[in-house]
Amino acid sequence: MCGIIGIIGNDQVAPRLVDALKRLEYRGYDSAGIATLQDGKLDRRRAEGKLVNLENRLAREPLPGVIGIGHTRWATHGRPVERNAHPHITNRLAVVHNGIIENFAELRAMLEAEGCRFETETDTEAVAHLVTRALEKGKTPVEAVRDSLPLLKGAFALAFLFDGDEELLIGARQGPPLAIGYGNGEMFLGSDAIALAPFTDQIVYLEDGDWVVLTRKGATIYDENNNRVERPVQKSQSANFLVSKGNHRHFMQKEMFEQPEVISHTLSNYLDFTMGTVREEAIGVDFSTIDRLTITACGTAFYAASVARYWFEQIARLPVDIDIASEFRYREMPLSKNSLALFVSQSGETADTLASLRYCKAQGLKIASVVNVTGSTIARESDAIFPTLAGPEIGVASTKAFTCQLSAMAALAIAAGKARGTIDARQEQQLVRALSEAPRYINQVLKLENQIEAICQHLAKVKHVLYLGRGTSYPLAMEGALKLKEISYIHAEGYAAGELKHGPIALIDETMPVIVIAPSDRLYDKTVSNMQEVAARGGRVILITDRKGAEGARIDTMATIVLPDVPELITPLVYALPIQMLAYHTAVTMGTDVDQPRNLAKSVTVE
Ligand code: F6R
Repeated sequence: MCGIIGIIGNDQVAPRLVDALKRLEYRGYDSAGIATLQDGKLDRRRAEGKLVNLENRLAREPLPGVIGIGHTRWATHGRPVERNAHPHITNRLAVVHNGIIENFAELRAMLEAEGCRFETETDTEAVAHLVTRALEKGKTPVEAVRDSLPLLKGAFALAFLFDGDEELLIGARQGPPLAIGYGNGEMFLGSDAIALAPFTDQIVYLEDGDWVVLTRKGATIYDENNNRVERPVQKSQSANFLVSKGNHRHFMQKEMFEQPEVISHTLSNYLDFTMGTVREEAIGVDFSTIDRLTITACGTAFYAASVARYWFEQIARLPVDIDIASEFRYREMPLSKNSLALFVSQSGETADTLASLRYCKAQGLKIASVVNVTGSTIARESDAIFPTLAGPEIGVASTKAFTCQLSAMAALAIAAGKARGTIDARQEQQLVRALSEAPRYINQVLKLENQIEAICQHLAKVKHVLYLGRGTSYPLAMEGALKLKEISYIHAEGYAAGELKHGPIALIDETMPVIVIAPSDRLYDKTVSNMQEVAARGGRVILITDRKGAEGARIDTMATIVLPDVPELITPLVYALPIQMLAYHTAVTMGTDVDQPRNLAKSVTVE
């Protein structure tokens, strides 16, 4: 949530700041702004709404200078209007902030009592005044920031630019990520390596509590006790990443179509397709020594983990506890030392998931994570990392990260089964072969796009949609409902088909389509019975099934999407595609902003 960038360079900085903000816009797009020094004097441009509004503003009113900071906002405190947009400035400094200053009200009251005048409703303005007050007492910028940071409670990544000092930027991190980029006679700060990719691939990630003084010559890093520290320089993998939609209309569509390839990459990290075996060296965890798996995640990652729960329990006979991170972190669950705590996160920065990880670590558990960003905080704080090789996901609605999470966890479940002796070599080979087929089947499903688009002409007119599924299709039903609501703003719910008669059946009428996910597996007959209960009450069914399932349905559906017959293990991977395409084309038909839906952000670094 919110992206920040800082550059001490040698060229005009405004276009470079905007370029970096484009790469950070997935973190929030309520407003954007930049500040620079021109002949030593601070100036800024800000604009409400998407970054393009800032670009238009800069075209009319350019902002010269070779040093500057920038921000793209996901509003927490204060409405998303220009007045509340970052950077916030005083007569001494400009600051950009990602996170929440929890004690801002106290700080504001204290500063107002001393005569400070606040112009915004943001928590960040308190930081600007706090450091300014220290400067006015005669402290240097470095001393002023150093002495102000301990007064801040909450989560923050901050970047400061000082009036009159063309040679200085200061950054600080507590919670949300902050990376330093090393250029040639230039230095950079950014929320992630992707933002810095056009400028440098030499990256240092600050640790929690660190703060950094940047000049054109380099960086001096201090820890929370103000001791000078060294942090390792890493080569970023993001350098060649281009923010481009290719031939697709939206990033989400591009990312849906990338799935056969990225799933293949992810699977081949864990599986040897030729031998039909798990690559033991990629597994980094001894599943034979644990007796329980505790999985924690948020949103789509939670639904991926909820599918994987079935796999770990069925294939590896490993009991699984699973919870959403915002509940788990405060639940004070008793944990056994023989549990493995597994965290699933595309960004690797989600605040609730990270807090849950730290809770488990404090209880002495071994920590593993399934992450897409391997330089992320969750990855760095894990004992074992299981990467998903989805590549950067820009569309706010997760698609390829979800199926890559499923792929990685399916491979892990097979590895766990093998280590625990619940599957033999022949079963291992069968399961690995089944997974290796997933990209081919997904390619076939992508060809159904036109049929699915036609169904969406109807969906785009309704107000409510119900998704039903059993077994692994139940979490998929919840994922389908989440996808639809986040990008089309249509109210949708995902239910276990067997729960229908315990309440939601009262909702059924001809105005609410019911999307039934029913591969012809061992639960198919049960789901069909539930579907018939819907049809008998005038409900209109969109059935997603396979050839055999379509023949056995015995009701008139509003539409039937017939997928290839696939092995049971990979049904969630293959059935995820029509779910995503239904949401995507409904949203496109309705004309919503598919890649940047209202009120959302890609990386949720606040509670
Ligand atoms: C929905 C979506 C979110 C994320 C959730 C967790 O399409 O993308 O629900 O899955 O915010 O994010 P990560 O995986 O980055 O921890």
